[in-house]
Amino acid sequence: MHTALAIAGLATTAAAETVHGALVFVRHGDRTAKHLGPTSLTPVGASEVFEAGTFTRARYLSSSSPHHIRGMSEAQYVSSQVYASAPDEPVLFQTATSFLQALYPPLGQSFAATQADKLANGSSVPSPLNGYQYVMLHGINADSPETVWIKGDVGCPTMTTAQQDFNNSAVFQTRLEDTRAFYQSLYPMVSELYDAATDLDYTKAFDIFDLFNVQKIHNSSSPIQKVSDDQLFQLRTLADSAEFGANWNASQPDRALHARTFAAAVLDHLNQTVSTSSSSASSTNTKAAPKLTVLAGSYDTFLAFFGLTRLTEASPDFYGLPDYASTMMFELFTPGGNNDDNLDESTLRVRYMLRNGTTNPLRQFPLFGSKQADLPWTQFRDEMQKIGISTTAEWCSSCDSPSDFCAAFRDGNNNSVSVQAGNGEVAVARGAWIAVLVVMAVAILGNLIWAAMWLFRGRKESRVPAAAVVKTAGSTGTGSVRSYGKESV
Ligand SMILES: *[C@@H]1O[C@H](CO)[C@@H](O)[C@H](O)[C@H]1NC(C)=O
Ligand SMILES: *[C@@H]1O[C@H](CO)[C@@H](O)[C@H](O)[C@H]1NC(C)=O
Ligand SMILES: *[C@@H]1O[C@H](CO)[C@@H](O)[C@H](O)[C@H]1NC(C)=O
Ligand SMILES: *[C@@H]1O[C@H](CO)[C@@H](O)[C@H](O)[C@H]1NC(C)=O
Ligand SMILES: *[C@@H]1O[C@H](CO)[C@@H](O)[C@H](O)[C@H]1NC(C)=O
Ligand SMILES: *[C@@H]1O[C@H](CO)[C@@H](O)[C@H](O)[C@H]1NC(C)=O
Ligand SMILES: *[C@@H]1O[C@H](CO)[C@@H](O)[C@H](O)[C@H]1NC(C)=O
Repeated sequence: MHTALAIAGLATTAAAETVHGALVFVRHGDRTAKHLGPTSLTPVGASEVFEAGTFTRARYLSSSSPHHIRGMSEAQYVSSQVYASAPDEPVLFQTATSFLQALYPPLGQSFAATQADKLANGSSVPSPLNGYQYVMLHGINADSPETVWIKGDVGCPTMTTAQQDFNNSAVFQTRLEDTRAFYQSLYPMVSELYDAATDLDYTKAFDIFDLFNVQKIHNSSSPIQKVSDDQLFQLRTLADSAEFGANWNASQPDRALHARTFAAAVLDHLNQTVSTSSSSASSTNTKAAPKLTVLAGSYDTFLAFFGLTRLTEASPDFYGLPDYASTMMFELFTPGGNNDDNLDESTLRVRYMLRNGTTNPLRQFPLFGSKQADLPWTQFRDEMQKIGISTTAEWCSSCDSPSDFCAAFRDGNNNSVSVQAGNGEVAVARGAWIAVLVVMAVAILGNLIWAAMWLFRGRKESRVPAAAVVKTAGSTGTGSVRSYGKESV
């Protein structure tokens, strides 16, 4: 435990190394409140994700950075080097757009002029917007099979049912009762927005926190301005516990199906970088893979991934919601200088990092309960393969999904076809269950950390009524089952 905590948060060192590829997963920035209808990214939010893009640019693109991705173009966008995708919905799509605008900003007037199009008739046409660069972004529609990689929670009844179970658990009910008075005491501040004080309770923990948080930031005329820092903090930690509980329970892995597809996507992107390097690429597969992948997604995927990869063992902070415009980064690197195009799998390593919001430093954490700050690529690959759901067929079957694209994977009686052996996919499924058993053992430890954290927070800053803290402390959070629709961002 001490070792794990000590490793957690090691400042990333600038020791000589060669980065070969990276994947960045970004949460949206500040937006309007969910409670008030369809959400949109605010200028504050766009600035936050723009800053996250600028930060990423400085780390991976700047030629003076020790983490510059080898061979990556610094100023001018090269389409084959970057892959970016976001769900086809406003907040997350705009998030990715703003992030990419910062990653490859306009080339500037002089460049725009020198690159101007010289026409046959002698006139010269510079590119618009100061040499703006059009970084390609793939918008993934909810009806597309591709949606399972970044939005594996949509159209997944198995997951919804698993979350519903949690909602019905004793620990959830206890927390619901213990916090009722607290929630109702806030009613005067939101009486215009809720019909009755009884509408405010733990089942809506995220919705209520979100409303208070957004109004506090944006609306000077709202009675919510009267909320105290303590009350807001308590609303946040209750939302933390509700959302973490909804997205992760070690004994009910179906709650984290979206993190399992996401894990497979991360592995797939990094593996492409590895397998298309000269040495391991087959003669028929010499097309270079993108060096940098940018994906935009929701906090629920973050939380489920935190649980699934045991990051909660590295720091109890992982029980909390990540701040706006948080980024998770996965880096594929070789320690020491390496200018060889042939990647040697045995010397490659993978580092996991989180930047929580846009004002905190980027911090490195060990995955899978490892004592090592980063992992050998081969170990990372094997662990991710165990937890990952790497085919749409397996997702459709695990979710029992009614999505149209799953029709291909149903039999004549309209039942999900379970994934067949023979092509490596079963190994994935079996491995996942082994991983789950391991994780179950670990969960008990996680509960202790959670309890300790609540007690610590409760004592130090005395926010929840003490009895409620103690009673709710024993679990890794409980979840109000929200309808995980397209708005779960
Ligand atoms: C040259 O062609 C472009 C595009 O067809 C046109 O806009 C421009 O006016 C032409 N310039 C001259 C000098 O004819
Ligand atoms: C700000 O709060 C006031 C008072 O509750 C409300 O009438 C108004 O609609 C709110 N404005 C926004 C943009 O939410
Ligand atoms: C990595 O890519 C290679 C080449 O495409 C493939 O054969 C292998 O199965 C992939 N491994 C994983 C873990 O995805
Ligand atoms: C991120 O920040 C939020 C708010 O400050 C906090 O509750 C959460 O625990 C943090 N998460 C991590 C992993 O640091
Ligand atoms: C087939 O199953 C899916 C998912 O359970 C369901 O949505 C759909 O209505 C079913 N179709 C028929 C024809 O029963
Ligand atoms: C986790 O899931 C199990 C199995 O459904 C359930 O019994 C348990 O109550 C859940 N954990 C909590 C803290 O609710
Ligand atoms: C969760 O449970 C609470 C209380 O048991 C209930 O009021 C609420 O409707 C449930 N939420 C969902 C989405 O089922």
